[in-house]
Amino acid sequence: MAKHDPKEPPPPYYSVDVHTQPPLKSYEEVVYGVGPGLTPPNQPRYIPQYPPPVVVHQVTQPGISPSGKRKRCCESNAQCYGGSGGALLLLALLALAIWLGVRYGTRLATAAILYNEDNDDRTEEPLPSFDTCPNNTVQCDGIVECQLGSDESNCVRFGEGYSLQVRTSEDGRFLPVCYEGWDEKYAKQTCTQLGFSNSFVTKAVKSKGQSIGLTLTSRSSSLIQGAVNVSSSCPSRETVSLQCENCGQQQSTSRIIGGSIAETGQWPWQLSLHYRGSHVCGAVLISPDFAVSAAHCFPSKALASSTRFWKVYAGVVSQDNLPEPYLVKKIFLNENYDSRTNDQDVALLRLKSPVVINEKIQPVCLPTSGQQFLPGYTCWTTGFGTTEAGSGTASKDLMEVSVKLIDTQVCNSPPVYGGAVTNNMICAGDLDGGKDSCQGDSGGPLVCQGDNRWHLVGITSWGAGCGEKNKPGVYTKVSSVLPWIYSKMQKVK
Ligand code: ARG
Repeated sequence: MAKHDPKEPPPPYYSVDVHTQPPLKSYEEVVYGVGPGLTPPNQPRYIPQYPPPVVVHQVTQPGISPSGKRKRCCESNAQCYGGSGGALLLLALLALAIWLGVRYGTRLATAAILYNEDNDDRTEEPLPSFDTCPNNTVQCDGIVECQLGSDESNCVRFGEGYSLQVRTSEDGRFLPVCYEGWDEKYAKQTCTQLGFSNSFVTKAVKSKGQSIGLTLTSRSSSLIQGAVNVSSSCPSRETVSLQCENCGQQQSTSRIIGGSIAETGQWPWQLSLHYRGSHVCGAVLISPDFAVSAAHCFPSKALASSTRFWKVYAGVVSQDNLPEPYLVKKIFLNENYDSRTNDQDVALLRLKSPVVINEKIQPVCLPTSGQQFLPGYTCWTTGFGTTEAGSGTASKDLMEVSVKLIDTQVCNSPPVYGGAVTNNMICAGDLDGGKDSCQGDSGGPLVCQGDNRWHLVGITSWGAGCGEKNKPGVYTKVSSVLPWIYSKMQKVK
């Protein structure tokens, strides 16, 4: 977290601040899965420097797992393929994969690398999980047909006022659920389906016009999309509002005037992610079992698959005073994360045991779909990152700083980031410099208040330097990656 008094001289310029500077020296490479039509699986990439972003492709032989960390671009790694032989083999494998995909109707839609305990063996390659679906699969009909359940994992979302919306199997539209027949049991079932442990509050909301909705038909399906039918309007024009978490409530609102050290309970969703005993990244609690962070916090297969070395600290405002940590069960990395551009820089952590919620520890609210926080809106970012750009040491205290949301067009203009900001990113900070997140804050929250609750609008991702003029912080836009987060939280199979 860099926070400078505007009257103070600007922070020293340093050239080594990278696009996604790895928090640890040993963070050298990224191994990720693929999305539809993207790069082949298990293709490591290097963390790019900013500017300009560079990608060094390293080709490894599929199936062979080099142990430990790899050196840069095959310098002396016998397991690396150099030259055209490797490229040809890769092409051949890619062609085979495409052919298999076409031939057997395999969907790549949920391709993800999922590191879990059982994978906690650094000699093993993390398993990319490509889903396989029969040819006539119907999405969102409540019947799991794909091997990993990808046909039923993207069927529920929350609209304005937490209105529950379910995707219809007929035309893929998200429609509100009618309140008639709705009860606590449905509420609990729907929240459990989404990966939350219970439901927090459910109520009826009056729908405006004669709007089309989904009526409840049966209790036999364990998935809400299998229990509804399209109807031209809801009885008594009431639809369901459902909140699965009591989220986004600050437990303490007093701030240290003029300072930037946060107080216990102020940002109760802030987590500190430790790797082998040191803070490397922030993370954000979204439910007792799940936290989100940045994908670039897990750049190496070796580091990411060793779940036992990762520890999550909750309710912490000082690194000098750490409670018992929570352990990590699984790390999901967004399969569309692009380490070259930093696009979709998001990871989801499933904890081994649920976090105990108290006045110091509370989940943040995920934004509802369509919820907008406009440029100029004042939000906050927090973290244990360095307070001096380039210093390399994390802050012992949790720091907070207010940042303004910046219009993407402005952020993409030539003097700022000249086109490097994708639609899945949101800039925040101060174009005059001084207020910013910094190295070690990655994976932490950018939160904005709306309807009296704090919503996770961004995940700290990258920036050029910290707190420099025209170089604001760039955050993963949570509304863009929301369907991905929900799909990974869901356990439909
Ligand atoms: N990539 C950094 C990290 O790993 C976060 C950088 C944020 N930079 C900024 N100027 N806001 O912690």
